Amino acid sequence: MVDEVYSPEEDSYLIEKCILEENLTNKKCLDMGTGSGIQSKAMYKAGARNIFAIDINYKALFASQKNNHEITQSIRFVESDLFSKISNEKFDFIAFNPPYVPSGKIKWKDLDGGKKGRETIDKFLNQLPNHIVNGSILLLLVSSLNNPDEIIDILENQGFITKIINSKKFFFEEIFVIRAIYIK
Ligand SMILES: C[S@@+](CC[C@H](N)C(=O)[O-])C[C@H]1O[C@@H](n2cnc3c(N)ncnc32)[C@H](O)[C@@H]1O
Repeated sequence: MVDEVYSPEEDSYLIEKCILEENLTNKKCLDMGTGSGIQSKAMYKAGARNIFAIDINYKALFASQKNNHEITQSIRFVESDLFSKISNEKFDFIAFNPPYVPSGKIKWKDLDGGKKGRETIDKFLNQLPNHIVNGSILLLLVSSLNNPDEIIDILENQGFITKIINSKKFFFEEIFVIRAIYIK
């Protein structure tokens, strides 16, 4: 794994497992915050052949490309702050394991989500409606430290039907995977 790129942790494996349960054949997919590329690989295994891997950290894009070298023909790697460089793209399936830990609680910058761990998540949620179509599915990893009920309310107000499909408890927090389907 390339240095300065988030190596897969418990959160990565929790959302990876959920991706592997999807049928992504013929779906246009987005691996937001690709990091090591673990979720792009999972999307490929779930049938996807049209995957966008996005990261703000160019080193992550190199790592994702290297770790997915057998399947790069199915992945477009784009250095972008969230959707900024792919403003016209819409997706059938999006997975995001975001930086979600409140600043001050961790030194690892790939997990630093700013105030209440919500800065990147809130920006992402704000941009999301421009990048979905009827039936789009979102898998979003959040922590009990992020006020997940409020995140679920935001998604439901945008027209998503939500369900928590996986979770794991640690001594200081619990992490959840929210599965949200957009119904127009
Ligand atoms: C917790 S890591 C997850 C990495 C990988 N997807 C996984 O599941 O192991 C979060 C990733 O999001 C990226 N990231 C953080 N802010 C971002 C932003 N504004 N736009 C795109 N990617 C971002 C980080 O560089 C990092 O690679």
